[in-house]
Amino acid sequence: MAAENGTFDLPPAGHLQWIGSTGPDQFKRVGHRYRELLVEDTELEPHHMVLDIGCGTGRIAIALADLLRPPGGYVGFDVWREGIEWCRRNIAARRPEFTFVHADIDEPHLNPRGRVPVGAWRFPAADASIDRALSLSVFTHLDGPTARHYLAELARVLKPGGRGLLTFFLLDAAGTARVADWPSGRTLLAGPRDPLLTRFGKDLFAAWDPDQLDGAVAAAGLVVGGREPGDWCGRPLVRADRPHHQDHLIVTRPLA
Ligand SMILES: C[S@@+](CC[C@H](N)C(=O)[O-])C[C@H]1O[C@@H](n2cnc3c(N)ncnc32)[C@H](O)[C@@H]1O
Repeated sequence: MAAENGTFDLPPAGHLQWIGSTGPDQFKRVGHRYRELLVEDTELEPHHMVLDIGCGTGRIAIALADLLRPPGGYVGFDVWREGIEWCRRNIAARRPEFTFVHADIDEPHLNPRGRVPVGAWRFPAADASIDRALSLSVFTHLDGPTARHYLAELARVLKPGGRGLLTFFLLDAAGTARVADWPSGRTLLAGPRDPLLTRFGKDLFAAWDPDQLDGAVAAAGLVVGGREPGDWCGRPLVRADRPHHQDHLIVTRPLA
């Protein structure tokens, strides 16, 4: 049975599993936490237009629903059709300034009959139309060429001065030690400038050398405005009052 969260039902258990959430409480806690982080780290304001890259089943949209107000709004997209359909029925139906787009990408494990090669996928937003972007636990699932394409698309849709909060697994010393536990038999070879990849079931996992990621961000025309390590690989948090699991990167589209 769906639980209540303010005026919104929460998604069914199978949807929480798809996004790796352990249950309704964690779903709400993480959504609320990233709403706070977007306000603190990107100065998100109610009139902003927000893009959610890989929005899953509405965890962030629900958390932002009582913050964003027209002319502000939200657009989320995901390769997972069922998640998008749930978001349309349960969120967009009540909040027309929230829109959800199915990315019909040819992804054999997540969207087997998809029609668009991922390299041809255009984010569902006009050039220079987005104030703030979020991608929570999505770049951690993308191979190198897809991540580079998504960074270029992010640069296209952000307004000059617009910002994004993106999460990654970064291979500093602690990260490198942690991914040594990734099953080596299933670690996929990638190009020399690509992240380290492994596959668990339907999900690809990607971990980046920090310098290579900085290079990819710069090549897309974005600037790294801040970074903060998470505790995913056992390292202590820089600030205990700012708990988060994956490594954070704030990227900005330069003004000129
Ligand atoms: C761990 S879930 C996170 C979902 C959401 N960001 C959240 O935090 O609730 C990862 C999401 O990325 C989506 N995804 C994976 N590859 C994608 C791609 N190439 N484009 C868009 N979404 C993708 C998956 O379908 C899944 O919903």
